[in-house]
Amino acid sequence: MQLRVVTDQPWDVPADVLVVPVARRPSFDGGLGELDRRTAGELQALVTFGELTGKRFSTALAAGGGTRSARLLTVGLGDASTLDRESVVRVAAATERRLGGRTVKRLAIWITPLADGLTEAGGGSASDVAEMVARGVTEGGYDPRTIYRDDVDSTPPILDELILVAPGADATALMRAAERGAIIGEGANFARNLANRASNDVSPVVLADEARAVAEQHGLWIDVIEPERATDLGMGMFMAVGRGSDNPPRMIVMRSGGEGERDALDRHLALVGKGVCFDSGGISIKPAGQMEEMKMDKTGACTVIAAIATVARLAPGTPLLAVAPAVENMPGPHSTRPGDIVTALNGKKVDITNTDAEGRLILGDALTYAERLGATHLVDVATLTGAVSRALGHLVTGAFGAPQAFFDEVMAAAARAGERYWQLPLVDDYTHEMDSWYGDLRNSGSAEGSLVRSGLFLREFVTKPWVHLDIAGTAYYRKPLPFAPRGATGVSHATLVELALAGARAG
Ligand code: BES
Ligand code: MN
Ligand code: ZN
Repeated sequence: MQLRVVTDQPWDVPADVLVVPVARRPSFDGGLGELDRRTAGELQALVTFGELTGKRFSTALAAGGGTRSARLLTVGLGDASTLDRESVVRVAAATERRLGGRTVKRLAIWITPLADGLTEAGGGSASDVAEMVARGVTEGGYDPRTIYRDDVDSTPPILDELILVAPGADATALMRAAERGAIIGEGANFARNLANRASNDVSPVVLADEARAVAEQHGLWIDVIEPERATDLGMGMFMAVGRGSDNPPRMIVMRSGGEGERDALDRHLALVGKGVCFDSGGISIKPAGQMEEMKMDKTGACTVIAAIATVARLAPGTPLLAVAPAVENMPGPHSTRPGDIVTALNGKKVDITNTDAEGRLILGDALTYAERLGATHLVDVATLTGAVSRALGHLVTGAFGAPQAFFDEVMAAAARAGERYWQLPLVDDYTHEMDSWYGDLRNSGSAEGSLVRSGLFLREFVTKPWVHLDIAGTAYYRKPLPFAPRGATGVSHATLVELALAGARAG
């Protein structure tokens, strides 16, 4: 897909489809009025008819009339005062998805209404809109139904050209922003595609091979730790989960920049992603209903692998570490049993009372290992608990972290990325609820407060500023939405990229 920014009026841009963003209760002064005149009053007629409402993500098609586009596609941006970066990405994704199955080679999007809306709402500039729109169209073009089939109908069109139409804007600045957006969108789609692939396709070994291919392509250092070395190193929690499957575990470690090298913010940032290629629960086996979703339990790992690749594309050489513990959590004769006591990499004795609380075990050792490699700041991303999706649903990611200053830095990156998080508390008074008779702590307990305890457990394995993002509710959609198909969403990829890029050297 070629990107282009033009400063012509929207009706003067040759295209197959011109996208016209329309707010609720639209005003027909200005550009929208001119487009209405050129379509012989069709847009106003659609409003009167009730077809064109401006409701967010709603769309209406019209003939191009006296414009240079074959067709117009209006897309609702909703109440302009509530427009934020996330909704700009999603409005753009929804238009690309709305054109599924249609023949579109040149797609033009008049971004002025989005830019005016976002600027007024205080959410960003015209450049930010160019970035979010290019990212949204890229993400909207992703369709997981094509992973294992090629006879899928109504897939989003493969564009030759995406034209951002912004009369009076600084085309050079917008073009740079749009290119950045498209690259971030491609990174999210890479993460989604890996996450959506089935467990009989992506084992820990295959995930490590994918990471190797990424490292080679982008000139990253990579180390893949096999079971023997993980055992020698003392990764007892990681191995306790990995040992139950015939598909052996892999601890995937990737780096850009030098060993322990500090970035422009004097950080050696580590991104740690949960890579459970299938979570059956192990001996504490899960009920059969929806167990197939547990192929998505590797999403955190896919996200950090994609994020380090995206950072390498946007700012090569930026110091960054990615650690992805990859395992299959399976029952079998070699599996860990409830009540087994293991020694974590940091020396703590852990009482595994529930083998289905496996994410925190592999992440604990991965966090310790990242610190051993020199990490000064850590962010982990994981489909960790069912509880977070009951609390926050599929549109808001739960987040823990300390100290608050680092948590706030991660949230500032999230705001730039247009992603929603909600902070959950690390309640010290609940720490004793992880007490074990036989060990230093146990990995699960009663349902009450279990979400808070999932964060408290991870905290036992970090000594540096750290944030934990629980994407169990937001990592994948169970049904298609206007702006995304069923399956992996790519959530948190953009936040991690923004966070890492804050430490990129200028230039
Ligand atoms: N992978 C699951 C969490 C999950 C559940 C992700 C639903 C996506 C959708 C995790 O390993 C798990 O099993 N968590 C348990 C923890 C409990 C045993 C303490 C849970 O949430 O029930
Ligand atoms: Mn589990
Ligand atoms: Zn899991």
